[in-house]
Amino acid sequence: MTETIGQILADLGGQLTGSPVNRFAVYVLGNVPGLPPLVQTVHILSVAAIMGSIVLVDLRVLGLALPSQPASELTRRLMPWVWWALPCLALSGLLFVFARPRRYFVNPVLGVKFALLLPAVVLAFAFHRLTASDDQFWERTRVRRTMARAIAACSLCLWVGVVLAGRWVAYADYLFPPE
Ligand code: HEM
Repeated sequence: MTETIGQILADLGGQLTGSPVNRFAVYVLGNVPGLPPLVQTVHILSVAAIMGSIVLVDLRVLGLALPSQPASELTRRLMPWVWWALPCLALSGLLFVFARPRRYFVNPVLGVKFALLLPAVVLAFAFHRLTASDDQFWERTRVRRTMARAIAACSLCLWVGVVLAGRWVAYADYLFPPE
């Protein structure tokens, strides 16, 4: 199963190589002065925006930060940063992915990053929506309070995992030496 997915991704990476989107990404990264570090800076600043908002919300729900701030208010104020940062991350990250699809599509650490990112985003979305629908949603019953804490703990682990995987993408060869 894993081998099949790996093969599909490798084929996709091969097909994208030489495609218009690949040629565009290679062209702009190579010809627009300063673009690669600029795009990378956008990626890093967006990571900071996401982590600075969601981690604070998670820590608040877990009772580990800002005890005087209502969790619902914090969620309402900080979560928009997550929804703005995600498209910036996707655009900045995909430019590099499309520039070297063969490199990234076979990178298992990038796969781990997306496997963690997907549930992290789903949890954040569900948590935000339910809080937006009712300020006291997570406070109404003991079960919901426990659920909120469980979600916050999972979310924290997932986002930290995404950041670690993001950084380790560059070191995949050391983590998984080519045979
Ligand atoms: C949404 C789609 C995303 C795509 C397509 C993407 C893609 C990439 C790519 C291609 C790199 C460069 C890897 C390398 O060769 O060194 C990277 C780096 C990184 N990404 Fe993402 N990424 C995305 C989202 C995220 C998110 C949500 C986070 C964390 C909240 C994140 C955190 C990082 C980190 C920490 C690095 C390392 C930056 C560095 O040290 O230079 N990425 N990403």
